[in-house]
Amino acid sequence: MTAFGKSPERTARELFAEAAGKAYDDAGLSPGAVEEVFYGNFMGQHAEQQGHSGPLAADSAGVTAPATRIESACASSGAAVRLGVERVRNGAADCVLVGGAERMTNLSTAEGTAGLASAADALWETKAGVTFPGAYSLMANRYFHEHGGGREDLAAIAVKNHRHATENPLAQFQREITVEDVLTAPTVCSPFGLYDCSPMSDGGSAALLVSEEFAEERGLDPEVAVTGTGQGGDRMALHDRVSMTRTPAAERAAAAAYDDAGVGPDDIDIAEVHDCFTVAEVLALEALGFYETGEAISAAADGETDIEGDRPVNLSGGLKAKGHPVGATGGAQVSEMTKLLRGDHVNSDAVSDAEVGLTHNAGGTVASCVVNVLEVVA
Ligand code: COA
Repeated sequence: MTAFGKSPERTARELFAEAAGKAYDDAGLSPGAVEEVFYGNFMGQHAEQQGHSGPLAADSAGVTAPATRIESACASSGAAVRLGVERVRNGAADCVLVGGAERMTNLSTAEGTAGLASAADALWETKAGVTFPGAYSLMANRYFHEHGGGREDLAAIAVKNHRHATENPLAQFQREITVEDVLTAPTVCSPFGLYDCSPMSDGGSAALLVSEEFAEERGLDPEVAVTGTGQGGDRMALHDRVSMTRTPAAERAAAAAYDDAGVGPDDIDIAEVHDCFTVAEVLALEALGFYETGEAISAAADGETDIEGDRPVNLSGGLKAKGHPVGATGGAQVSEMTKLLRGDHVNSDAVSDAEVGLTHNAGGTVASCVVNVLEVVA
């Protein structure tokens, strides 16, 4: 992945080209090896007036192979990874370039917010004034109402994820914050203050997915494999859901990915989850089966998801501190997880026994979700 942050002058294609270049170097492969490209991008038409960005992104990465843009809001590149895995598994390709990019900070916050809001139901939600901080704040308030907990519990998530990012050179924010900072920050949409929100970010991510045979033939030594992948869906609009505090799309994605990998929630050593807002981390931990419904709210405050805890979550800093260039996020989770598992991430030493990792990448208010399971190759 590229460094995430503010680089408003760089186009999405430049960001993806940089990420792809890093992936080629990492794998020891050249663009000529790529047989297909899946590129995640959500708001290029809004931010750059650029459609048809699959072949454009591929071109920027030196590839003329078939290329398709995958759009599933903030889960775009998670879905791109999943499609790449499926192509390799079903024998259609031996080497697939996946990932994504997003350019957001060339827009004002208001313009970016309007662009992001198009991931909600335009007729019933967006027209009523719902933005993403707004939608997730409804979910947070409902969670407090049903299960208890409060702003301090959510603040502990932001503090943890900022702390995890302090040494991550690719993270947008590499500084610690305190619970006091979170609680006294300007309100974005009650109960969220500034630090409950992921930021607007620019960035790209890329990965080369190869078959075992291809790796053997080329003498590659991939230390990590994707052993399970799953995608789930749900009613699109929040008001159509049975519950505002459960995310069945994530439950379904996790069930499929666990089944595919032959593992369960207790086998997961570390996870990168989609904390676009602090409450989203709580909902993710419950949907993934790490906690019962209504019980994950205190996980960060109790230190359980901390780097030193029983099951560290978002060691990259998560979307909160690493940044959230939406089309790049799912691919970035896979990039960070790969480094964490193979031992070359700044936070790897703290989890040197970790062998199984999970990424959870959600679209909208989790109307779509992709879960991938990654494992150290024995
Ligand atoms: N966390 C921490 N710091 C943040 C931040 C965040 N989420 N967002 C902005 N900042 C910092 C900036 O770095 C800047 O600091 P500086 O003055 O030291 O440079 C300062 O806060 C002001 O930044 P600015 O971009 O002007 O803030 P803003 O008020 O216009 O926007 C939010 C802040 C939270 C409203 C905006 O980041 C946002 O809408 N985030 C949500 C994005 C989203 O919905 N994503 C999709 C999820 S589904």
